[in-house]
Amino acid sequence: MEKTRIILDPTYQIGAVDPRIFGGFLEHIGRAVYEGVFDPNSAHADENGFRKDVLEALRQLRMTAMRYPGGNFASGYHWMDGIGPKQQRPTVRELAWQSIEPNQFGTDEFMKMASMMEWVPMITVNLGTGTPEDARNWVEYCNCPVGSRYADLRAKNGSKVPYQVKLWCLGNEMDSPWQLGHVPANLYAIYAQQAAKLMKDTDPSIETVACGTCSISLPTYMEWDRTVLEYIGSCADYVSLHRYVGNPKGNTADYLAVTNSIDQQIEEMDAVCRYVQARSKSKKRHYLCFDEWNVWYRNRSAEHTKGSGKFAPPLIEEHYNLEDALVVAGFLNSFIRHANVLKIANIAQIVNVIAPILTRSDDMLLQTIFYSFAMYSSRRGGIALLPSISGPAYDSPSYGRVNTIDTSAILGDGVLHVFLVNRNTSEIAEIEIDHCRGNIVSVKAAEILSGPGPDACNTFENPNAIRSLPLQTVKVSEGKASVVLPPLSAAAITFITA
Ligand code: AHR
Repeated sequence: MEKTRIILDPTYQIGAVDPRIFGGFLEHIGRAVYEGVFDPNSAHADENGFRKDVLEALRQLRMTAMRYPGGNFASGYHWMDGIGPKQQRPTVRELAWQSIEPNQFGTDEFMKMASMMEWVPMITVNLGTGTPEDARNWVEYCNCPVGSRYADLRAKNGSKVPYQVKLWCLGNEMDSPWQLGHVPANLYAIYAQQAAKLMKDTDPSIETVACGTCSISLPTYMEWDRTVLEYIGSCADYVSLHRYVGNPKGNTADYLAVTNSIDQQIEEMDAVCRYVQARSKSKKRHYLCFDEWNVWYRNRSAEHTKGSGKFAPPLIEEHYNLEDALVVAGFLNSFIRHANVLKIANIAQIVNVIAPILTRSDDMLLQTIFYSFAMYSSRRGGIALLPSISGPAYDSPSYGRVNTIDTSAILGDGVLHVFLVNRNTSEIAEIEIDHCRGNIVSVKAAEILSGPGPDACNTFENPNAIRSLPLQTVKVSEGKASVVLPPLSAAAITFITA
């Protein structure tokens, strides 16, 4: 294969990378909360009932913003069911996932976990069956000093000090016909504006995320977003994007080219934000919050999405392979390349449910995507650079022409992080990196994720088949670097620069 040349000019800056793009998502669905992070019966449970082994693994992912409690679940959730003495909390029939919800994990448990894990809490209010006033009360419970009803309730439940939840989602996927309480855009815009105003009146320091279109294939794509943003104006700070991708046709090269479509989705949503700002002649610019993204296509049928009235049924538990891990790397490349407009992103989800971690009783498995996420999230600080790339490319039937090497780069303090994905399914790639006007001095750390084929995966029986390993084939000479990558691989390299 022809060599790829990447030029990374330190003066070609896209924008500062917001650490919140390395966020996660914990929803009350399937075995995500119960059996996933919270299982008082597990041998790994701590005094709170939190699974120490799972939290320890999650710590390695260094996640930032953690979205909770849904997802579709949020649109039927009454937050007051999940607070107070546990034996008095109601067990309810949960409609989004057709499951039983015992409310043994709620706001206070989530906040304790978020504090232990140093996550930035991000709460989704119920705009499906809930009211703007419920949402405002939740903000008071979380953020206000004692001296009023809900803040005093929080103190009574154990935390006199406010939780300071700064990020609030104004409902979830309200454009989707499957959402509890789904309404047309003009109605959602009114509810969301009412809720956001009450919430911001309660705590002016919070930031809010309006529901954008949750699937690019919905007929209201873009029109929903324009309608909502024009109406809500400065009551929202961000608009949400969601994306789940997959390889149903079994065409690896085509699947890996999905980054074109992710780039396009981000740019189209940004175009709506700019359009709305221009039309309204406003100083307010909405930024993007990609608060659900991942690979999800194998477990879409009713048997995987409907819990048949059970407690913690195994729902949407995707088993990830190497090509999925490379697609996760591709999502993150795209986010870094759009650092100027994309400020928050949450991989959906964190354990058992479309997640980097699976549990089976007291055992735990790190999936392939765990490693690609970790390789990126440990290299977060700095300014995203605009890469100039020349080299081999191919035509993907679904997504058009793509470079064989997908890349992004972050310029940190005395370091340069470079991310590379070799999408070629059979050939090694030779890559030259020229940090022109900068100077690469040496390699500080470099890892690679690869495997024998696109379907290779980890199992409970063979848990270490696919994992990141030190990358040996990177050399530095005369201020430039050269890298050799095997087919179907992702690499993350930190260079020391002068
Ligand atoms: O992450 C699983 C589900 O996908 C979420 O609950 C919903 O928002 C989306 O459709």
